[in-house]
Amino acid sequence: MSEEISRQVLGAKQEFAVLILFFAACVIWGRNAIAQSTRTQEIEDQPAERVFHNIQVLKGMRAGDLQGAMSFIASSLGVDCDHCHRGEDFGQDLTKEKSRAREMMRMVREINESAFRGENEVNCFTCHQGHQNPISLAPISLLAPTERKKEAPTAGPSAGGPLPAVEEVLNHYVQALGGQAALDGVTSRIIRTAPLRQQNEDSKTVSITYQKAPTKVLVSKESPGYSSWVGFDGQRAWAQDSLKSYWGILNIPQRNSIMRESELYPGSRILKQYADVRVSRKEKIGDGEAYVVEGRSPEDTTEEFYFDAQSGLLLRRHILEQTVFGKFQMQEDFEDYRGIGGVKMAFVMKWSSPGGAWGTRISTKVLEVKQNEPIDDKRFEHAPASKP
Ligand code: HEC
Ligand code: HEC
Repeated sequence: MSEEISRQVLGAKQEFAVLILFFAACVIWGRNAIAQSTRTQEIEDQPAERVFHNIQVLKGMRAGDLQGAMSFIASSLGVDCDHCHRGEDFGQDLTKEKSRAREMMRMVREINESAFRGENEVNCFTCHQGHQNPISLAPISLLAPTERKKEAPTAGPSAGGPLPAVEEVLNHYVQALGGQAALDGVTSRIIRTAPLRQQNEDSKTVSITYQKAPTKVLVSKESPGYSSWVGFDGQRAWAQDSLKSYWGILNIPQRNSIMRESELYPGSRILKQYADVRVSRKEKIGDGEAYVVEGRSPEDTTEEFYFDAQSGLLLRRHILEQTVFGKFQMQEDFEDYRGIGGVKMAFVMKWSSPGGAWGTRISTKVLEVKQNEPIDDKRFEHAPASKP
């Protein structure tokens, strides 16, 4: 594989790398119809050592959990995947960092077993805090007398006024988007997006999302030399790529991401499918204020939705996903709402997550939207056959 292609593959992988989940919890809790119906005894349910070829420490972990674990490690150290891996084959042991990381994984396991009753209390981030080498010396600034803050912090809950009911906030949102009737009138969408900032001219990635009511979705990403597809056909979530590599396994981050993408408008599942939904607070965001609705998704991510108190529109979605090492957070900001066929949708989605270079799911802008075009159901079941 040429370097160019492997870079693109890596780019695409890293994009997926960000989202995480904890499928085991869904299974244990068994309360989750979607997770259960999408759960098939497929490759991602097998132990990691059966799917990947050089697993020495993480034996017994589900293959689908590996990607989330790696994302967590990389963000904890503030590094990219190639800090420990080289080239296309991630199973090779080519760096001293990878062997050191194995020792660290064993150490973390021992600490948690001996001192924390086997609970995941200590993880890579506890010590590393985003650095390759943890700092074990308190910085001088901590000891120096600090100036007292005169003003109250700008963020955080704002005083005064009772909070509205969840239904009220969500109704306002639906109204702001054009009203329920208009939203129900949109039964399918084809959305073409591009990275908000194109890295360079020849690495053009076009991403197309196909949605069909109520829950079918396909996200197809194509760049020269590498394409990937992640879909949900209403029953089963799946992933495939043009190299038919093991990246074609559906990992937990992808599963959760595709379930979010199945919403015809973001947050449409909150009222009927989320657990423990409530308006938790009012918070300053930018120049305005937002009501924060929190809840637990059917995939068992904890999410917060920030709705503009004035316009009613969704400004931000904050997602906490569980990995085998610890929680991983991501934020999606929605901007540039535009009207299209009687409904509004955001045309700019900005992603942020810890870890800088690799960790940020690519921010995108919408290039084109087609609504109510017929889409064949088959499209949501598997990758297009004619592709390389
Ligand atoms: C700090 C070092 C480190 C970083 C950063 C890291 N990994 Fe790993 N990776 C490891 C170690 C160690 C193993 C082997 C684990 C074991 O032996 O149980 C591994 C194993 C893997 C494997 C299994 C390969 C096989 O066939 O055995 C894949 C795939 C992988 N990593 C992907 C990634 C991706 C993608 C990223 C970036 C999001 C990443 N890794 C970041 C240390 C790292
Ligand atoms: C108890 C604190 C602690 C925890 C927890 C911890 N580390 Fe470390 N780690 C250190 C210290 C201290 C160093 C630097 C000294 C050294 O390398 O011996 C280090 C160094 C490393 C290095 C080598 C430095 C480099 O160049 O990248 C890697 C890789 C690493 N840790 C990975 C991990 C991973 C992966 C985890 C989670 C599975 C982890 N560490 C958890 C304390 C910790």
